[in-house]
Amino acid sequence: PEDVGILAIELIVPSVYVDQTELEAYDGVSAGKYTIGLGQQKMGFCSNREDINSLCLTVVQKLMERHNIQPSEIGRLEVGTETIIDKSKSVKTVLMQLFEPHGVTDIEGVDSTNACYGGTAALLNSIAWIESSSWNGRFALVVAADIAVYAKGGARPTGGAGAVAMLIGPNAPLVFDRGTRASYVKHAYDFYKPDLTSEYPVVDGKLSIQCYLGALDNTYQLYKKNVAKREGGEISLQDFDGVLFHSPYCKLVQKSLARLALNDFVQASSEDRSKKFPGLEKFENVSLENSYFDREVEQAFVALSKEDFKTKTTPSLLVASQVGNMYTASLYGGLVSYLVSKDITELVGNKIMLYSYGSGLAASIFSMTFASKIDERFRNLISNLSHVKGMLQQRQKVDPKIFEDTLQIRHDTCHSAPFEPNSRVDDFFPGTYYLVKIDDKHRRFYERM
Ligand code: ACO
Repeated sequence: PEDVGILAIELIVPSVYVDQTELEAYDGVSAGKYTIGLGQQKMGFCSNREDINSLCLTVVQKLMERHNIQPSEIGRLEVGTETIIDKSKSVKTVLMQLFEPHGVTDIEGVDSTNACYGGTAALLNSIAWIESSSWNGRFALVVAADIAVYAKGGARPTGGAGAVAMLIGPNAPLVFDRGTRASYVKHAYDFYKPDLTSEYPVVDGKLSIQCYLGALDNTYQLYKKNVAKREGGEISLQDFDGVLFHSPYCKLVQKSLARLALNDFVQASSEDRSKKFPGLEKFENVSLENSYFDREVEQAFVALSKEDFKTKTTPSLLVASQVGNMYTASLYGGLVSYLVSKDITELVGNKIMLYSYGSGLAASIFSMTFASKIDERFRNLISNLSHVKGMLQQRQKVDPKIFEDTLQIRHDTCHSAPFEPNSRVDDFFPGTYYLVKIDDKHRRFYERM
């Protein structure tokens, strides 16, 4: 099959959020720490009426309805998540409730987990399936979803929640480039969830940033090598219309784009350096490994890449800044943001690079090329995202105190059974699935708004 890629994409976010400026005041930190220091505006969160199953049910059902996709058209369905509520039963099997009533049970794939990388693992599996001898001509559906919550403290403002579903198939308007993908996987204890009774991770913030940036350096350099081998010639940031990142918080993404400029600089010949990087000669001996927290290097390359950040990356940060880290869904929320921030005529023929990172750690860089003509499929994909900005605006702001109380109740009850949550559901968006009860055998039951 040719042009395997994304045919449709759906995003859901919680209907409530806490304002990061208000949270700064409530937490008693200096004004600007979360909004300027981390680059976050609002943070979406869920009550105990929503769990990973309900988010995934909602996003899949909405995608199918909006694009009028029949259950029988899906041949593979995979979920990437790190929001684990069962050590055995996959979220995918829960989603089968949307397919079984239509007599559809022949759907491959289960769940993938490694921190924020699970959605990418699910995506790569689905692409491979379509390109394989096992493909049966049907679409793959990839779901990336998480509820990101941290214990009270410095990491809490980097939470968020949301889900993305992507319909994958041939002859797509957004096509995955072949043969150039680069990965970097190694053992690290930067962020992990060893306490199976808690939703909160154990996180070493500084180490996680170093791991994120180190994996970025490694995947970018390998990606460049892979492109050179396949297509010949050196590429750099200038070869991309869009550069998208997994976004734990937006400030890290800005630093990451600067990091790619630093990589281009380090790899350039001395002749190219003085031509393309004037005034940066004094950094010619800088080592990547020793510069993760080097302020001078960081500031110089953030300044150098300022315009690129504005044009290539900022369009992808709408959801990240307005909702927060959606873990596995973060990068794909970035893709949705990029698609809704531009007119379709500006998207035609775009080449974009995507960086996926999951602590622990697993990372990949891959790229996509958008169709060079606007056909019906391209137009459908884009027009079916026209509600996204409105959805973000329609959310309700909640006081930091209520946010904190809600998280506490979540924390206290997330594994209770039997349990019937009684918090309100009337502020949910139409079409939202929500938890009605957990019975004494820990079986979960849902209804839809
Ligand atoms: N105005 C403007 N900027 C400010 C202010 C202020 N009033 N106060 C602080 N800042 C800046 C700081 O200078 C700092 O900037 P820098 O990153 O350029 O150094 C930034 O705001 C954050 O302040 P810190 O004091 O470093 O914040 P803290 O240590 O409390 O926490 C951290 C930050 C480590 C990111 C924490 O939120 C965390 O652990 N998050 C979760 C881990 C994470 O997201 N890791 C990333 C990759 S892994 C993943 O995706 C989960």
